[in-house]
Amino acid sequence: MTNLHDPREALRPLFRTALQAAFGPEFADEDPILRSSTHADLQANLAMGFARRLKMQPRAVGEAIAAALPRNEVLARVEVAGPGFLNLTLADGWITAAATAMLQDPRFGVPCATRPERVVIDYSAPNVAKEMHVGHLRSTVIGDALARLLSFRGHEVIRQNHVGDWGTPFGMLIEHLLDRGEAEASAELGVGELSSFYKAARRKFDGDPGFADRARNRVVKLQSGDPETLRLWSILVQLSHRYFSEVYRRLDVTLTPDDIKGESFYNSLLAPLCDELEKQGKATINQDALCLFPPGFVNRDKEPLPLMIRKKDGGFGYATTDLAAIRHRIEDLKATRLLYVVGAPQEQHLAMVFAAARELGWLVPPIRAEHVKFGSVLGTDKRMFKTRQGDAVRLVDLIDEAVEAAQREVRENCKEVDDEETIRELSRSVGVGAIKFADLSCDRIKDYVFDLDRMVRFEGRTGGYVQYAHARIQSIFRKTEKELGALVFAQGLSLSSDSSERQAERALMLRLLGFREAVEAVENTLQPHLLCTFLLDTAEAFSTFYQQCPVKNAAPERRAVRLSLCKLTAGVLATGLSLLGIQAPPRM
Ligand code: ARG
Repeated sequence: MTNLHDPREALRPLFRTALQAAFGPEFADEDPILRSSTHADLQANLAMGFARRLKMQPRAVGEAIAAALPRNEVLARVEVAGPGFLNLTLADGWITAAATAMLQDPRFGVPCATRPERVVIDYSAPNVAKEMHVGHLRSTVIGDALARLLSFRGHEVIRQNHVGDWGTPFGMLIEHLLDRGEAEASAELGVGELSSFYKAARRKFDGDPGFADRARNRVVKLQSGDPETLRLWSILVQLSHRYFSEVYRRLDVTLTPDDIKGESFYNSLLAPLCDELEKQGKATINQDALCLFPPGFVNRDKEPLPLMIRKKDGGFGYATTDLAAIRHRIEDLKATRLLYVVGAPQEQHLAMVFAAARELGWLVPPIRAEHVKFGSVLGTDKRMFKTRQGDAVRLVDLIDEAVEAAQREVRENCKEVDDEETIRELSRSVGVGAIKFADLSCDRIKDYVFDLDRMVRFEGRTGGYVQYAHARIQSIFRKTEKELGALVFAQGLSLSSDSSERQAERALMLRLLGFREAVEAVENTLQPHLLCTFLLDTAEAFSTFYQQCPVKNAAPERRAVRLSLCKLTAGVLATGLSLLGIQAPPRM
């Protein structure tokens, strides 16, 4: 047995042989389109597509493929159904051998990518002196899951936290800092009172013309590099960084201060970039502003849409920075895959930046950029998630509430923990895991409803359900060891002779064999919910297995096999959760 833990991988060469034999070499590499099915272990659905090309009845196509499949150890049965579907039943011997190989593999059957890449992931990207809100939560949680999963696959991941740390609001923020006094302002920002600070500055800017003038002068000083202004600016930046780090720590997010490459990093690159593009004739002056016109973008009147990179006052904006950033990521960081985990409203902006980078000859194959866009977080009233005052909900408050709600669940359901310290620790794992799982488990492009009470539960499609299955296995180990003195595992997996027990064991093994497919699917589609679904299905298969099959009280040989199957299940659940950035507590 090589590292073919994945049924689809094992079946591919068989189909290649069959397709070549039945229809000729030009069909050999066609995808057998294998899907899971209620009628069999897997179903191949290629007959319909082939029928037209071959001018044959779909059913006859299916029969021809079935007849041409070479003798093999993977399949026990092939049945042609309906319009040529192939219902495939895997051989028990193959399943147990594959599950055994998976058990012996520290990576649980997920190989490293054959062509590792350098991947830049732009995620989180909060703004200095501004509160992190649920939009940043989504970017942070999705981006971090992708970073973990791609690293696990052997890619070199470069995290880029594109913090908003530059621009005109800093004029009013610095002046407000001076009015408040450095020490007082630092104290306020140090405890994370970012939005009140920002709002107070904004209020003065809007209501006090003298203040607004000072703020505008301050922007000029900041942009011209006045040392004292830069010092004040960096106070705001440092305090915010400290605050972001604290949020990341509480959220178990892997971002560190080293991953911060804020907008200000690109400052010195912007003027030369614009000059270069202007000189080369790649950017053109349009109503006194310097613009790129990336192909394929037009306004309502079908006129080319500009990507403005230098405003008529000579200033640079968000687009200029993103253009400099994409060049940096390609030319300096030498990444071949660029991911932007940014909300759906920025779709057009990013599409224009990508198109411009393509036009400029930077973004050329195999280098590619992908907007990993996501929908909004809604309240239980299905409207944008806001506080009663209409403000964006603070991320830290959400974490607090989630941990609190989780604590209620833990106290009610977790009979294995009693001391306060463990309860607190567990509530944190469950609460943070609940937020993350709820976010990751829905199709990321869609909006989702933030329903804390639902997501902290241990039932339903929740993180807690998966965590609980994992902890339950650990508890089986503890109880078995306590009662029998030692845990004896089997080297190899096999199936019971009892038919209903056999079926539950087989179903669980078959589920587990889908781990590789789930991880690779997330890598390719950047849709973490595919892994969430896998983990939920696996936890469910485990729960059925455990209802059907005694472990501790089984005969010694069977017990050893089942303990090994439990170990494989726990390993896969914990690894899968860790790829999502969710803890797997040993005791619940
Ligand atoms: N700071 C921005 C915001 O809060 C997100 C930045 C996203 N990344 C980027 N390269 N534009 O909306």
